[in-house]
Amino acid sequence: MKLIFTVLALMVVGLLGGFNLPEYRNPGKEFPVPGSGDSSYSGNDEKEAAVRNLIRDSRVIHAALENGGCEVCHLPHSPGGPWKLNAPFPEGFYVTARKDSFELCFGCHDSDLLEKEVTTTATEFRNGAQNLHFRHMNGDKPRNCTVCHNVHASDAEHLINNKVRFGKWMMPLNYRPDETGGSCSPGCHDAQRYSR
Ligand code: HEC
Ligand code: HEC
Ligand code: HEC
Repeated sequence: MKLIFTVLALMVVGLLGGFNLPEYRNPGKEFPVPGSGDSSYSGNDEKEAAVRNLIRDSRVIHAALENGGCEVCHLPHSPGGPWKLNAPFPEGFYVTARKDSFELCFGCHDSDLLEKEVTTTATEFRNGAQNLHFRHMNGDKPRNCTVCHNVHASDAEHLINNKVRFGKWMMPLNYRPDETGGSCSPGCHDAQRYSR
């Protein structure tokens, strides 16, 4: 009887006062909160500094960042894996390239760039009407966006990486934009050109 009373009393207090739920934490993988000035998350200050230096020193900065700051993609208590991202984004070189793997990006960008195999409007990365985003992200080796793009900043147009880590190798992409498209000669295939 006493126990039931105590439970009831606690429930009333809980309903009136509102129990505070513990805040979400990503156990074991604390990540500094970019932009918050809070470095007490420990361990990854160097990585944050590296990203900030890259942004400072690069010619092209992701407009998402210029407009909204780090918080547009990272939040202190986001459950989004080691990087505390606000929405799903995959790790790794080869990925499952479905729309919902990249919710972070497709919150702002149109997922047609990934999904429309033939198009003259969904993306500029195409050869005529052949969508080269689709081409590189389908088949048995779908690549991550970060194979070609740096999500923060780059010296190259369209946030294209100069180099990308492939196993132990820093593979150069040698991307050159031109009036109607561009070309690249990465380690993974001969020089190729696309034209719209
Ligand atoms: C457009 C979304 C976006 C914005 C804005 C953004 N980030 Fe990121 N960030 C990502 C993604 C996606 C990753 C994981 C993939 C990667 O590392 O390339 C990441 C990874 C990181 C990492 C881990 C890098 C590593 O080597 O493991 C750090 C540190 C970081 N971001 C810091 C920042 C800081 C600081 C800002 C603001 C100045 C910022 N980010 C703004 C999307 C973003
Ligand atoms: C908060 C909104 C937002 C988010 C989230 C976002 N972007 Fe962007 N991004 C923009 C805006 C705005 C631009 C500039 C306009 C444009 O080119 O579409 C841009 C530009 C780009 C460009 C350069 C386009 C060019 O031709 O110069 C790339 C590449 C890019 N984003 C990739 C990504 C990737 C990859 C992600 C996910 C990790 C992502 N974006 C997440 C808003 C966003
Ligand atoms: C194989 C390399 C490669 C991969 C993988 C890749 N991109 Fe791109 N992307 C490019 C190139 C090259 C351009 C520049 C096209 C142009 O303007 O000539 C581009 C352009 C863009 C643009 C500008 C708008 C457009 O479509 O032309 C956005 C946004 C973008 N990419 C987002 C992404 C996102 C999000 C992913 C992952 C889901 C991704 N990219 C994966 C190479 C790539």
